[in-house]
Amino acid sequence: MADDLNDVTDESSESSEALIAVHWREEGYYPPPAKFTAQANASDPAIREQFTEDKFPDCFTAYADLLTWYKPWDTVLDTSNAPFWKWFVGGELNASYNCVDRHMEAHPNKAALIWVPEPESEAHQAITYRELYVRVNEMAAVLRGLGLKAGDRITFHMPMVPELPVVMLAAARLGIVHSQVFAGFSGTAAGHRIADSGSTVLVTMDGYYRSGDLLDHKVKADEAVEAAAKEGQQVDKVLVFRRYPGQYSAQTPMVEGRDVFVDDLLAEHKGEIVEPVALQATDPLFLMYTSGTTGRPKGCQHSVGGYLSYVAGTSKYYQDIHPDDTYWCMADIGWITGHSYIVYGPLALGTTSVIYEGTPNYPDAARPWRIAKQLGVNIFHTSPTAIRMLRKVGPDEPGKYDYHFKHMTTVGEPIEPEVWRWYYETVGKGEAVIVDTWWQTETGGFLGSTLPGIDPMKPGSCGPAALGIYPTILDEDANEVPAGSGKAGNICIRNPWPGVFQTIWGQPERFVSTYYAKYNTDPKSTDWRDWPYFAGDGAVQAADGYYRILGRVDDVINVAGHRLGTKELESAALTVNEIAEAAAVPVIDDIRGRVVEMYVSLKPGYEAGPEVEAKVKSAIETDIGKIARPKNIWIVPDMPKTRSGKIMRRVIAATSNFTDTGDITTLANPEVVEKIRHQVQSAKVAKGEVPRELSETELNEIKTFGSE
Ligand code: WTA
Repeated sequence: MADDLNDVTDESSESSEALIAVHWREEGYYPPPAKFTAQANASDPAIREQFTEDKFPDCFTAYADLLTWYKPWDTVLDTSNAPFWKWFVGGELNASYNCVDRHMEAHPNKAALIWVPEPESEAHQAITYRELYVRVNEMAAVLRGLGLKAGDRITFHMPMVPELPVVMLAAARLGIVHSQVFAGFSGTAAGHRIADSGSTVLVTMDGYYRSGDLLDHKVKADEAVEAAAKEGQQVDKVLVFRRYPGQYSAQTPMVEGRDVFVDDLLAEHKGEIVEPVALQATDPLFLMYTSGTTGRPKGCQHSVGGYLSYVAGTSKYYQDIHPDDTYWCMADIGWITGHSYIVYGPLALGTTSVIYEGTPNYPDAARPWRIAKQLGVNIFHTSPTAIRMLRKVGPDEPGKYDYHFKHMTTVGEPIEPEVWRWYYETVGKGEAVIVDTWWQTETGGFLGSTLPGIDPMKPGSCGPAALGIYPTILDEDANEVPAGSGKAGNICIRNPWPGVFQTIWGQPERFVSTYYAKYNTDPKSTDWRDWPYFAGDGAVQAADGYYRILGRVDDVINVAGHRLGTKELESAALTVNEIAEAAAVPVIDDIRGRVVEMYVSLKPGYEAGPEVEAKVKSAIETDIGKIARPKNIWIVPDMPKTRSGKIMRRVIAATSNFTDTGDITTLANPEVVEKIRHQVQSAKVAKGEVPRELSETELNEIKTFGSE
C-alpha cells in the first residue's frame, strides 16, 4: 500500500535531485509484422548509418530534398547566433506550394482531406487536391484583400473543420504567420494569444459539434477581442466561417464593421489565383502557444524550411506515409500534433488526411472503428487518453468492424504497458505496428520513436532516438546518467535538428533561459555541442538504448495530453476576490493520465462554501477553458509552507493522491498538513475517489512535484 511507504526525503537534497531510481519491470519486445516491413519506407537498418553524428548536419538534406525549393540553400546549418539555429540558409520555398500545388499538378482528383462531421447523419466530405488548391487560393485572396502580408500575424480560433487547414495554407502561401488556438480554449485565452502575437485579424467559426451539441463558438470571438483590447491589441476584423453555409449557427450577434462572414468575402474572390510567395527557409511559418512555468504562455515560433522538412521526413519514415494511404490522426489541429501530423507532414507527402470534427466516443465507443472501416483508414494516430477511454467504454468494439490498420501511433503522454497491449491486440488486431512518439510543441516533430519497419516495439518505451537526434540524460551536475543504470535524469538533445523551434515569440531571453541555459557553460560559444536542448522531461534509458519518458520535471501538468501550467491555473483562481492563495497539483487518473486539483485559501473575513468553489471553477473556465477545470477545489485553512513562505506543492499533491507526505519537519506550519489531509481525504473517500495503488514512477512524480 502507498501508505506503508515511509521514505523520507529531506528538502535540500530533494530540490537538487534529478536522479530518481526507477524500478520497472522490463517489458518484452514485439517485432514489427513482416508484412509491414516489406512495404515500409524504412526497411533497411542501414538507414541509421546515413544519420550518424559524423554526417550531421548534412544528413538532414535527405528530409529537405522531399520538398520542392525555388532556390536551394547555401548553408545547411548556421550556428553563428547560437542557440538560435538557422537551417537551410539561403534556401527559398513555400509551404502552401509544397502541400497543395505540386500534388494538384501530379494528381488533381485525389482526396487531400476527408472531413468527417460529428453527426453521423451528415455525409463525409472529400476535398481533392484540385479543390484544395482552389479554396486555398481564394482564401489567400481574401487575406491579401485585408492588407495582410508576409511577416504579419493572424490568429485562428477554429474547430476541426476543413476550413482550418485551408486558412492555414492560405496564410502560409503569403508568408503570414499563423497562430491557431485550440477551439476548446476560452475566448479570453485566445485574446491573450492574439495580444501576444500582435494579430489584427481573428478567424473563427459560428459553431461546431462536440458530443452531440452544436456549440456557439462565435461568442468566444467577442471575449477574445475584448481580452486582447485590454492588453492594448486591437482586432480590426473577425472573419466568421459558417458551419452551415448561408445559415448562422450562433446566437451571438455579428458586430457591424468588424465581423464578416467568410463565405461573403470568398464570393468576391471567386477563382482568383494567388502566386505563392518565395519565402526564406528561415522565415517563420507559424506560432503555437504552450504552457510553461510562468503565467504567460510561450509562442513557439517554427520556420518554413526546417519545420516543413522535418515533418515531411518524419511523416515518411515514422508515420510510414505512402501516397496511396488513408491516414487519420485523431488529434486536434489546435495542438502541435495536428499541425505537424494532420496538416503539414501528410500533405507535404501528398497523401489523404482525415479530419474528424467531434469526440471519439460520440455517439458511442465504436465511432472511430466505423469511420476507419467506411473510409478505409490504414494509418491511425491517437493519444493514450483516447485509447484508455475507448478501452473503458467499448473494450470489444474494434473486433466488430472490418477495418485493417498497418500502422498506429500513440503520442502525448506515457502509455501504460497494459493499455499499449489493448491498442496492439484489439485495436490493431495484432496486424499493425505501433510507434510511441515522444516530442513536444517546441520540437516540431518526433524526437524518440522506433523506426516502425525495423525496430522491435517495447510497450511503455518510446524507443531509440529518431534519425539524426542525439539525446543524453543528464543529472543536475551535468553528468551523463548511463543507459541501463536504472536511474532517471533530465533528457536533453545534444544537437539542433531542422524541426526545432526558432525562438519564443517576443521573448528571446526566455527561450535561452528555459531551454538552453541549464547545461550551457559558455554563452558565447557558437559550437552546437555546447548547447544541449533541455526538454523538461524526466527519462530513463534501458540497457538496450530505448528511452522511457517519465513526464515533466517542471510545474506543468499533462492532462489528457494537454500541457497546463500550474501558474496559469493559479493566476486564474486568484482573480476571484475571496481567494488569498492558490496551488494546483496533479492527481493520477486512470483515463486522463493526470487531472488537476486546486487548493485555495481565503482572505480574512470570508467564509468557505460552494459559491466560492463555483467562482474558482468559473474563473478557470473563463481564463483558460473547460479542459483546465479542476476535478476538485479544496478550500483549506492554510497552505503548507516553507519558512521562506513557499507553498509546498508536493505535500498537497501527496494529500490528493493518498501518498506519503514525506518530511514535513522543515515546514513553517507542519500542523496544517494533518488538518488538510483529514479534510481532503475524508471528502474523497466519501466520493469514492480513492486512487488505485500507484506505480513507482507515479509515486516519484508526486513526491517531487513542484520541487524545481
Ligand atoms: C509529453 C505533444 C511520454 C512529454 C506532442 C512532453 C510524452 C510533452 C510523449 C509535450 C510520449 C509527449 N511518451 N510522454 N510518447 N509525447 N509527451 O507540447 O512530457 O503538447 O514534454 O506536445 O508531452 O507536450 P506537447
